[in-house]
Amino acid sequence: MKEGMADSMTTRDLAGYDFGKAASAVSPVSDDALRQLEQTVEWTEADAALLNKHLPLFRERAESMVESWRAVISAQPHLAEWFRGPDGAPDDDYKARVKARFVQWVIDVASRSHDRDWLNYQEEIGLRHTPAKKNATDHKHTPPLVPFRYLLAFVAIVLPVRKFFAAAIHSPDELDGVEMAWRKAACLHIALWARPYTIEGLW
Ligand code: HEM
Repeated sequence: MKEGMADSMTTRDLAGYDFGKAASAVSPVSDDALRQLEQTVEWTEADAALLNKHLPLFRERAESMVESWRAVISAQPHLAEWFRGPDGAPDDDYKARVKARFVQWVIDVASRSHDRDWLNYQEEIGLRHTPAKKNATDHKHTPPLVPFRYLLAFVAIVLPVRKFFAAAIHSPDELDGVEMAWRKAACLHIALWARPYTIEGLW
């Protein structure tokens, strides 16, 4: 697959993107637990509406957002190693496939409602960072895990997004609102992805 095609393809054609499909994990998280988590990050309908209002911008910028985050990973050997094949070289095919789904995720954050399909796919994404499912989607042989400490620490890298939107959103209040809504959404996603890493009962 050519890098960066996610936005021009229909999501149905995006390899390994199992959102809403039987292949997706099923989340054990209850509706109540989800609502309480949303409350915890102060996620509101207004946040959802604001991200959705700027969906065209998210579509336009998603790839450059992912590329900038990927550059951070590539520059640090202890992060890049989770994308290396058994020969020690970066698995470029794996990187391209995962990148396309990562780009789709950015668009999904701005557009998907938090329903069961969405919740199930968050469980799936969490699992894909763990030995339960890492590599399985793309039939690869890279290391079997993204250590939890890096998943969590990397939140610091994906939270600041105003630089991607500042040229297009001229109202400072609107720009603040978009960044704040994105921050809440990103933290909510990572909290859900943390679940499969935890010992039963500790999440
Ligand atoms: C908060 C930070 C992170 C976000 C938002 C994020 C997001 C994502 C997304 C959306 C996917 C694709 C899910 C899908 O298949 O649909 C993915 C997969 C992946 N991510 Fe992350 N990720 C983060 C941190 C990290 C870190 C720190 C690493 C490693 C250094 C990493 C390595 C990977 C790998 C190797 C995959 C592919 C897993 C597979 O085999 O399916 N991620 N990530």
